Amino acid sequence: MTDHILTEIKDRVLTITFNRPEKKNALTHAMYAVIADALEDAETNDNVRAVLFKANGDAYTAGNDLIDFQQAGATDERNVDELPVGRVLRAFVAAEKPYVAAVNGVAVGIGLTMLLHCDLVYMAENAVLKAPFVDLALVPEAASSLLLPRLVGHVRAAEIFMLGKKISAAEAVQMGLANSVCAADELQKTAGKAASMLAAKAPRSLQMTKRLMRSGAAAMTEQKVQEGQYFGEQLKSPEVMEAIMAFMQKRPPNFG
Ligand code: COA
Repeated sequence: MTDHILTEIKDRVLTITFNRPEKKNALTHAMYAVIADALEDAETNDNVRAVLFKANGDAYTAGNDLIDFQQAGATDERNVDELPVGRVLRAFVAAEKPYVAAVNGVAVGIGLTMLLHCDLVYMAENAVLKAPFVDLALVPEAASSLLLPRLVGHVRAAEIFMLGKKISAAEAVQMGLANSVCAADELQKTAGKAASMLAAKAPRSLQMTKRLMRSGAAAMTEQKVQEGQYFGEQLKSPEVMEAIMAFMQKRPPNFG
C-alpha cells in the first residue's frame, strides 16, 4: 500500500489523485498497483459512475518513475504486461465507465498517453504535455502509437514521440487532446463538475456510448502487446541504461 496514490469514491465519482509531489508524481510500481485496483473495482462497483484523475502539487505526473522502472527492467523477468503498469494499461483499454482528467501541470509519458483513454480532459493554462519516449530510448505505450497518430496525424505524433516536442495546453486543445484550458484555480472545479455531470447520466447509455466510441479495442490490445514487448526489451538495453544514467546525473545522454 502507498499513500502516493489517494482514492476516494464520493457522489458516484471515483477520484484518483497522484500524490507524490516531491517527485513530480512519478509513478512507481506500487502506485500503479493501487491505480489498477481502483480502476478494476470501478468497473463492477455500482457506486462508481465516473472516474476523475487529478494530482497534488505543481505537476500532473512525470510519468514512469525512471529509477523504479530501470531497476525492475534489470531484475524482473516478468514482461511489462505482467507488471502493475500492465494492469493499468489493460484497465484503460477495457474501460466502460467514463474517465475525466484534470491536468494541472507537466504531464510526461503516460501522463500524456493516458489522456488518449480519457473522455473529457481539462488543462490548466500552464500545463504542458510531453512524451519523450525516444529521448529515453523507450517506445510509446498504452496503445498511444496507434491512438496519437490517428488523432493528430503521423507527422505531429512523430514530433511528440520522436523529437520529444512539448505541447502547450492551448495546442492540446487545438489538436483534440483536451477539451479546454482553465485558469489554474478553476481547474479542479471544472473537471469535478464534468465528472459529476457524467455521474448523473443514465449509466448503461453512457457505457454503451463509450464502448461504441472506442470500437477498436481489439486493435488497441494488439498494439499494446507489441509496445509492451519492445518496451520490455528496451528496458534491459544499454540505450536505456545510458538515458537513465544521464537523467540521474543531470546531463544529456550520449548514445554513441
Ligand atoms: N522518475 C523518477 N524521478 C523523477 C522523475 C521520474 N520520471 N521525474 C522527476 N523525478 C524526480 C527528480 O529526480 C527530482 O528528484 P530530486 O529532488 O531527488 O533530485 C524531483 O523529481 C523533481 O524533479 P525536477 O527534475 O527537479 O523538477 P523540474 O520541475 O525541474 O522538472 C520534469 C520536472 C517532470 C519536467 C522533469 O523532472 C523530467 O523531465 N522528469 C523525467 C520525465 C520522464 O522522462 N518520464 C518518463 C516518461 S516514460
